[in-house]
Amino acid sequence: MRARPKRRLDFTPDHSVEITVAPNGGACFGVVRAIKLGFQAAAATGKVHSIGPLIHNESVVRELERRGVSTVAGADEVTEGTAILRSHGIRRQAEATLRERGVKVIDATCPLVKKPQRIAQALGEKGYFLVLVGDPNHPEVQGVLSYFGRPDYAVLYDPAALDAVPTGTRRVGILAQTTIEASVLEAVTAAARERFEEVAVYNTICDATSVRQTEAATLSRTADVVVVVGGHHSSNTNKLVKICRGNQPDTHHVESIEEIEPAWFAGKRKIAVTGGASTPQDYVDLAAEHIATLLGRP
Ligand code: F3S
Repeated sequence: MRARPKRRLDFTPDHSVEITVAPNGGACFGVVRAIKLGFQAAAATGKVHSIGPLIHNESVVRELERRGVSTVAGADEVTEGTAILRSHGIRRQAEATLRERGVKVIDATCPLVKKPQRIAQALGEKGYFLVLVGDPNHPEVQGVLSYFGRPDYAVLYDPAALDAVPTGTRRVGILAQTTIEASVLEAVTAAARERFEEVAVYNTICDATSVRQTEAATLSRTADVVVVVGGHHSSNTNKLVKICRGNQPDTHHVESIEEIEPAWFAGKRKIAVTGGASTPQDYVDLAAEHIATLLGRP
């Protein structure tokens, strides 16, 4: 992960307005890697199919498309050429189908998503019941489940949902979606330890996510207004928004600088700007620069 120096735009002569950019706000190494692989593949082959959006950021996806990386809904649509697997990964069977068809596969799955995939596979082989803490509709979760390869699993956030685990289950393996909050995994783990004989816990939460979440929490505690930059469908960006809103209700989620409204900053002295792990860092910096311009920076 590339750490930026802490940035502060303090541009008013009387130091009345301060804009602070979260030091690590913006793209994580997995996203930077996926974008780079996408651009490289497009330059080398002219046309690449991304199975689902390569990352959860519309603006970047549009730029990738301009350069030859087109998004398809599923692996079924790709019968030849080159396919790139997104940072969240895809289902195991879908990747196998692509390879069977002779499609060249470029694997941009984040190494930190590959880890829960590998662990899920091992838990499946050893006969554990899998508790996957996360969002059942998220592509990363669906990909991880495909590696587990068995029907005895539960995907949940709420410890109370462990009630649905069949009676008689003894051995439970717990995995986390990379982007969830650590406190959620802790709560599910504590509840599971009270119910099951053997609980194997694998903290597969991504460090990039927790670093951004901690920074967002710290910044939003003292800010008068917070702007979070990132895709509206990005799970990690939405988590940052939730954390910031918890501390500062005056938190705004934007995907592009055009959505930023000058009225948000009227009478505010401390402005914080951060971005989700799928937002290029340049976009986060650009948002801070844009706010400074809106506020009349000379
Ligand atoms: Fe990978 Fe973590 Fe980013 S899982 S894609 S480095 S948020």
